[in-house]
Amino acid sequence: SQRKEIDDTLAAFALSPTQLQEVKAKMRVELERGLKKDSHPTASVKMLPTYVYRTPDGTERGKYLALDLGGTNFRVLVVKIRTGMRNSVRMYNKIYAIPLEIMQGTGEEYNMFTIIILYKLRNCISDFLDYMGMKNTRLPLGFTFSFPCNQTGIDKGDLVCWTKGFKATECEGYDVVDMLREAIKRRNEFDLDIVAIVNDTVGTMMTCAYEDPKCQIGLIAGTGSNVCYMEEMKNIEFVEGDEGQMCVNTEWGGFGANDNIEDIRTRYDREVDGGSLNPGKQRFEKMTSGMYLGEIVRRILIDLTKHGLLFRGRITERLKTKGIFETKFLSQIESDRLALLQVRSILQHLGLDSTCDDSIIVKEVCGAVSRRAAQLCGAGMAAVVDKIRENRGLDNLEITVGVDGTLYKLHPHFSTILKDTVRELAPNCKVDFILSEDGSGKGAALITAVIDKYLYAMR
Ligand code: BG6
Ligand code: GLC
Repeated sequence: SQRKEIDDTLAAFALSPTQLQEVKAKMRVELERGLKKDSHPTASVKMLPTYVYRTPDGTERGKYLALDLGGTNFRVLVVKIRTGMRNSVRMYNKIYAIPLEIMQGTGEEYNMFTIIILYKLRNCISDFLDYMGMKNTRLPLGFTFSFPCNQTGIDKGDLVCWTKGFKATECEGYDVVDMLREAIKRRNEFDLDIVAIVNDTVGTMMTCAYEDPKCQIGLIAGTGSNVCYMEEMKNIEFVEGDEGQMCVNTEWGGFGANDNIEDIRTRYDREVDGGSLNPGKQRFEKMTSGMYLGEIVRRILIDLTKHGLLFRGRITERLKTKGIFETKFLSQIESDRLALLQVRSILQHLGLDSTCDDSIIVKEVCGAVSRRAAQLCGAGMAAVVDKIRENRGLDNLEITVGVDGTLYKLHPHFSTILKDTVRELAPNCKVDFILSEDGSGKGAALITAVIDKYLYAMR
């Protein structure tokens, strides 16, 4: 019957407790592989060092510039941290759009592509400094750059590859900070001290740690999906030194690159991957983050329509259009406060003509896809917190995760399912989640402040 066909399709998205345990265990293996000297260079979970050795202690202060590139928006900010009191941060920012033709520069050679993006950023900084009347002040700058960078220092980061909506097929290790410095120099109009390059997960962790010292993990569930956490230096084999801790950017979005989660990938996941800007890469990210969930939903809807189970069997041009289901629409469709009539009007708004039955099915499809995403994130997180617990030789761990990202913030069920999954899979850890309200630009400024303080002490 029709019902059975729909149930069968969605069954592939329902992960059993055993399957989730397996995901956790596999993630744990990959975390370890990423930390070992031999396996690090080829690991699917890259475990990139960040050269951030500790979270803020509340004594940071000063005035900083921050850039934030990699989420939905590009922002330039001035962040003022006053006299080292917690909760005394002021921010002024301006949001700039990165035009799609720049983000997906046609056939541009990788290096050229990167240069074009950085020149665009430089021009935005220039505009912002004009706007703030600050062209003549040479401020220290923290750069939140939400892409994998191979760091050899806090202000040195070779881009490993572009991810999410940025397209450049070749990947080579050019230093993004050097390139931005060069771009600024060429404009010969203002001067900046680029002090730190910061992944958004790290910025988020720092922002939240400023309020809650127990925060030692940063999670992004937005356009992309990623986690960072404080790891013991002695476990990070490829970085000199055994004392203390360093924050590691896991880049867990790459999980699955060695075919180890093929058993839970569905044909829809493979279709989405195949149609993406970076086929074969970021497989976990493509099952868990905002940029791709809507695409999975759309592929399932097309398939159900083909089988005459939806939309009266008619596949419209609209349904064939990539990217129509943004995170905000998924979130609306799944909201329990919405009557089915309203779901229908959202679908109508998307250009999809639905019956009442259609709207029920669409809602079910969205639910299955987002539930799996939240559970997978939860399984990954369970692996991380248990690792931290074992690192510290504890039976029980209390820890806070700082979180940001549109999926986590907008979706009505994602955060609850994520938390439930962590509780089930890591019963010895009491994990709190706090939301980063101001984005990771603030965190970049805090990191810059930590370094500033250190440099000052060295003088
Ligand atoms: C923001 C951060 O708050 O969250 C960005 O400042 C980050 O750097 C973003 O990438 C993630 O959210 P999204 O959903 O816009 O990708
Ligand atoms: C992608 C990027 C990663 C970033 C994440 C969240 O996975 O590779 O660096 O943290 O998206 O924005």
